[in-house]
Amino acid sequence: MNYDIKNIKLAEEGRFRMQWAAREMPVLDLLEKRMAESRPLDGLRVSACLHVTSETGNLMRVLQAGGADVVLTASNPLSTQDDVAAALVAYNEMSVYAIKGEDNDTYYEHLYAALDHKPHMTMDDGCDLLATLHSKRPELLDTVIGGTEETTTGVIRLKAMAKDGALKYPVIAVNDAMTKHLFDNRYGTGQSTLDGIIRATNILLAGKSFVVGGYGWCSRGIAMRAKGLGANVIVTEIDPLKALEAVMDGFRVMPMMEAAAIGDIFCTATGDIHVFDQRHFEVMKDGAIMANSGHFNVEINIPALEGMSKEWRRVRHQLDEYVLNDGRRLYLAGEGRLVNLAAAEGHPASVMDMSFANQALSAIYMREHAAELPNDVFAVPQELDQEIARLKLHAMGVEIDQLTDEQEAYLSSWTEGT
Ligand code: ADE
Repeated sequence: MNYDIKNIKLAEEGRFRMQWAAREMPVLDLLEKRMAESRPLDGLRVSACLHVTSETGNLMRVLQAGGADVVLTASNPLSTQDDVAAALVAYNEMSVYAIKGEDNDTYYEHLYAALDHKPHMTMDDGCDLLATLHSKRPELLDTVIGGTEETTTGVIRLKAMAKDGALKYPVIAVNDAMTKHLFDNRYGTGQSTLDGIIRATNILLAGKSFVVGGYGWCSRGIAMRAKGLGANVIVTEIDPLKALEAVMDGFRVMPMMEAAAIGDIFCTATGDIHVFDQRHFEVMKDGAIMANSGHFNVEINIPALEGMSKEWRRVRHQLDEYVLNDGRRLYLAGEGRLVNLAAAEGHPASVMDMSFANQALSAIYMREHAAELPNDVFAVPQELDQEIARLKLHAMGVEIDQLTDEQEAYLSSWTEGT
């Protein structure tokens, strides 16, 4: 076993936090029991590039229980929980390559170390591992049967690769499962992003103008939770349908250039570049706070912010103050990286339960079906999605109705009308 982590002495704390998270992960727990018996991943080498959190730690344990030989590397330089990395090494004998705050070179060295495992399967969050394998280690492609992808940004990259004919093995888009994005992206990102902004700043949100970039599933969650805390929420969009939805959900919608001059707090989660750009910094109020909850740290144009600043300093644990040449001060949370993971602990376990049940079941599905699948991006099969929703409801003690025979017959008939 090889590893590169911060401190093995943190292992016990990490194990406690993984156990605490497991209490809210009943679906994954059930899968662990099933997989420990049937061993559907026996002998499968999996290289996973995920945020190294207590929830991910539990997924890794489940894959191991199912017979997989797993290594784990971080999917973001700032998202690692060092105690979890230590626990996986110490108690699960897993190779882990992840240190919170690692620089870009170390981040990529860790990806290469995970690829040295010669994976049969890759498991990505953001597509960095798959992209690195394709571009820098193509000789490994022969042994890879398939992969999975956790997040919107990664799925977009994969679809671009597939369109270019560059994707050399099939990948399941876990993100697109209903039991993933409807809950993880919306409620998970909503709660954990606000958690991150509050931990980074400790400001009161009530009465503040809170600008949300985008109105996809993640931004919807952020807008909803910011509103719940009493902020006046402004949404910016480029898609007329999403903008209309935001308006009817009760938010003010306007171009970013207008919102920039009004906002006290700004948070973007669009997946695109420079959502907050120099022209916006030029009109922002003194004291405005910015955060990003999109996958990559490109949504805020940090080089432009640095270029406009005469000095910067770290004023709190995850908050930097930029003093602009004209004297205004702008604040950046979590270095512009995923604020929910950089400044807080990521999505709560209860939603990761469903996201990672999708990962585990998709890994099994891929093992069984990879040979039939062309090199493209696939949805999680609907039966799996439905099964996860059923198991989650069951674990929550919620029962639902079934169609009566009469109702079923009515739905399948075309003769009954007015
Ligand atoms: N992405 C967002 N929150 C996460 C978490 N808690 N664990 C793993 N990946 C995440």
